[in-house]
Amino acid sequence: MPAPPHLDHEALLRAQADTLATPRRSYGAAAKVLFRLLDVLYGRKRTLSKFKVLELVARVPYQSWEQVAYIAITHVHVRTGMARRVYARVKESREQQDNEQWHLLVIQELIGRSGKRENALHYFVVPQMIALVYYQISWLLFVVRPAWSYRLNADFEDHAEHEYMHMVEEHPEWETTPFESDFAADYGEFDSVADLFRQIGHDERVHKIESEEAMSGPRFR
Ligand SMILES: [Fe+2]
Ligand SMILES: [Fe+2]
Repeated sequence: MPAPPHLDHEALLRAQADTLATPRRSYGAAAKVLFRLLDVLYGRKRTLSKFKVLELVARVPYQSWEQVAYIAITHVHVRTGMARRVYARVKESREQQDNEQWHLLVIQELIGRSGKRENALHYFVVPQMIALVYYQISWLLFVVRPAWSYRLNADFEDHAEHEYMHMVEEHPEWETTPFESDFAADYGEFDSVADLFRQIGHDERVHKIESEEAMSGPRFR
């Protein structure tokens, strides 16, 4: 599946209203533990620094699926048709990873410009430790039963989608803050920082839907 669509201002407003009117998924135990841990470590308040941590972790399931898919290609390479289908999954995982990466870099850029100084241990080392454990869980679940890994990711993406849309609601000043970024050519142009975050929220919804579809569909078959 290609990268999530780039929406215009009107569509972004609708997307935000849709998300806020949609109940959250009923999260599984692993997702609940992760969200609680993030609240304990980074506070319940929605800050850019906390979203950066979220984005550092968000890429991990896609990395683990990509790795499993490459191993699968090694195992099935004599059946070239099957190998090609598995490769399509690799590509999909990579595109989603890239999309999460732009989220991360755009947020980092905003934090950098705000002049906020982040503690390196708290915002660099600890998130990587969380990401490492999350990678192992995501990988293991995928090997045992792919649907479990997709479900965990759907929960993660659903949480991110709602959190972004709520954050926009909490910052009316962003409606008139222009989005100026070195990554605009990569990620897109937006009328305002509010629209930037609505777009990111919508991307997370697209990621969620992909994982939900993958949960019920056969993979690598
Ligand atoms: Fe993201
Ligand atoms: Fe996402």
